[in-house]
Amino acid sequence: MTIAHASGKAILFGEHAVVYGQPAIAVPVTEVQAQAVVEDAPPGQGIRIVAQDLGRDYLLRDAPPDDPLRVTVTNALHRLQQAREQDITLTINSTIPVACGLGSGAAVATAVVRALAQHFGHPLEAGEVSGIVFETEKLHHGTPSGIDNTVIAFEKPVYFVRDQTLEAFRVSRPFLLAIADTGIASPTKISVGDVRRAWQANRVKYEEIFDEIGTLTVMARRAIENGEPETLGQLMDANQRLLRLLKVSSPELESLIEAARQGGALGAKLSDGGRGGNMIALVTPQTSDRVSMMLRLAGAKKVIVTEVH
Ligand code: MEV
Repeated sequence: MTIAHASGKAILFGEHAVVYGQPAIAVPVTEVQAQAVVEDAPPGQGIRIVAQDLGRDYLLRDAPPDDPLRVTVTNALHRLQQAREQDITLTINSTIPVACGLGSGAAVATAVVRALAQHFGHPLEAGEVSGIVFETEKLHHGTPSGIDNTVIAFEKPVYFVRDQTLEAFRVSRPFLLAIADTGIASPTKISVGDVRRAWQANRVKYEEIFDEIGTLTVMARRAIENGEPETLGQLMDANQRLLRLLKVSSPELESLIEAARQGGALGAKLSDGGRGGNMIALVTPQTSDRVSMMLRLAGAKKVIVTEVH
């Protein structure tokens, strides 16, 4: 039996603009995890997939060709130079909420690829895992930038630019994020599609917004590398103002953002696709409890506090 895990993730800066070539910053969120277990099965069984949280139990050969788990397993076996026909059972569990911006799809796929690589005794580099998971991400998102598979496979904060090799990026002073869930599922594919249509209708205006988000992300990188939390908070607020212009915020996100500010957060913004899902607030050891309480009072379904280091 082989077990592998993958963490969730949060986007700190640059969501949406990253799809159009601007930089973005993302961090792993280890408090939520996906797990994949591979076990040998009796000859002739084939590949059985048991996705416990989704209540699904099926044979890979019976799944449609675009089933994300089928695609992940098939691509991983190909990369591992293993036959497509295997007698194994793959059991998947995850504590990462689906369609909430914490990278559940990419984390499940990463855990599956890691578990298969270990099971067949063929270790893969983080970049190779990321590449396989990117193919699965295309099914979930349509036009993913690749940031989710990258941050989850590399398991460290990343400064990411589409189609470019990762640059070294150092968090000089660890900081805390409170991540609060609106409880509203919001598939990234839909908000990314809406932004794309709006951009096609008004390229000049939207590209100006993407450029401004890119500038903030560059400044945020500097603030993280120099350990300047006040500046970082202000940049999060500025990024949120631009996300509003992209029309991806929502009344529920805005009320959590307002609550975090009232609780003393240094800055707050939505995270990922928007419209629902999660928001993030920059907190300190002194303000963390108060901000978390304010977020719950304002209707957050769940609050996670994670350290970025
Ligand atoms: C993905 O986690 C966040 C978005 O920027 C989409 C993408 O980068 O593919 C909204």
